[in-house]
Amino acid sequence: MSGDNPAPYLDGIPPDTLRKVQQYLKPFQLSKEKLKEVSARLYKDMLLGLERDPPYDAAVKMLPTFVRATPDRTDRGDFLALDLGGTNLRVIHVRVVEGNPQVLYSESTTITTEIKEGTGEALFDLIAACLGDFLVSRDLNGQTLPLGFTFSFPCEQREIDESILIRWTKGFKCSGVEGRDVVQLLKEAIRRRGDYDIHSVAMVNDTVGTMMSCGYDQRCEIGMIIGTGTNACYMEEIKNMKRVAGEDGQMCINTEWGGFGDDGSLKDIQTEFDVEVDKTSDNRGVHIFEKMISGMYLGEIVRLLLVRLAEDKLLFKGRTSEALRTPFTFETKFISEIEEQDSGLVNTLRILTDLGLEWESVDCAIVRLVCETISSRSANLCAAALATIANRIRTNRGLDHLETTVGVDGTVYREHPKFSMRLQETVCLLAPLCDITFHVTEEASGKGAAMVAAVAQRLAAEPAGQ
Ligand code: GLC
Repeated sequence: MSGDNPAPYLDGIPPDTLRKVQQYLKPFQLSKEKLKEVSARLYKDMLLGLERDPPYDAAVKMLPTFVRATPDRTDRGDFLALDLGGTNLRVIHVRVVEGNPQVLYSESTTITTEIKEGTGEALFDLIAACLGDFLVSRDLNGQTLPLGFTFSFPCEQREIDESILIRWTKGFKCSGVEGRDVVQLLKEAIRRRGDYDIHSVAMVNDTVGTMMSCGYDQRCEIGMIIGTGTNACYMEEIKNMKRVAGEDGQMCINTEWGGFGDDGSLKDIQTEFDVEVDKTSDNRGVHIFEKMISGMYLGEIVRLLLVRLAEDKLLFKGRTSEALRTPFTFETKFISEIEEQDSGLVNTLRILTDLGLEWESVDCAIVRLVCETISSRSANLCAAALATIANRIRTNRGLDHLETTVGVDGTVYREHPKFSMRLQETVCLLAPLCDITFHVTEEASGKGAAMVAAVAQRLAAEPAGQ
């Protein structure tokens, strides 16, 4: 698969050293056959997830989102969007014109570790405060605009405005939120302030927001995130969903594919380094697939490998540094910087020096090889999962050939110099009957949250049965 081809920079590594380094990297290099197997396993788990009721014990939860239609040209109006899912909370004023969203204004607040690990009340008080300040600064107080709330965690949605957090992921641990309805918690926090009120709320996962952000003119029926976490959603036939019985038409399913492997089904491709990352994480045993792919973990996998190679005297003359031995010091963005076409070598020297390491040019080449191997595996696994979804849509429609668009976002996808290319190459191999176009939108999940609110408003206004 991509990433396996010998690159010229490897010439500087003595053959014996390269052979030994490759022994460590081999388990990360997945063949096309293996990826096809992974894809088939995910397909099976998706079917299991659709059948589970409630979804809690399914590895791939397949959560109904109550988003029943993609945007059309009649969708219009002003909306508010809240976006919480990683390091920032964003409040956004969005205008929808003929089914296409435009950001009028947005504000961002950093979510500190203290907030992430504090009480749910403190988190929702902060969200209510940011929204309140935004309404005042934009002179929107009293207008009660519909609100789309992108909340990028696994939630069991019972309606568009009722969404129970199943569990926190991505380092969030706020107490008193798991098992509770996020809409109620937001409304309670707003009530505690008492200085403003909100109208309807539409709850949205970031994958769903990303799919919907494409607007009416894209044939976009898949949303995918490869950032701090990874996940995807797609339009599924309602008749296949156990939890939304007896209805025609389609609904968007939030797959929560990050949980793939939580029942042990990925043991054959989990390396000892993946096991170590999982063991030392906040949510051990949970989101195994995500821990092999997403930005929160890729740097840590590379760091563990570098430490091991140094211990085996294959790097840095057998020496490490205190920084390198400290968890999470090797940031995922370093991988992107090291793999940069022109500035990669200069970046590598800077990063290794900043980590207190003494290097020679052979070390730089090995570090690059490690980074390429880990980011290629991530792209290949994402491609396998995306191919599964595209094949699912094709099968649902009974088509020989599917043309579809994926709305995609996330720092790993957007900032890594080769990730998107590798992903596309592999998905073509794994889903040859699907022609997949990728669509990247700026501020996707905020715009998409507004689109979900707009579509919900349109559907609510339509006479029943339409
Ligand atoms: C995690 C969350 C999921 C989200 C993804 C990307 O996997 O559980 O809901 O979509 O991260 O942000």
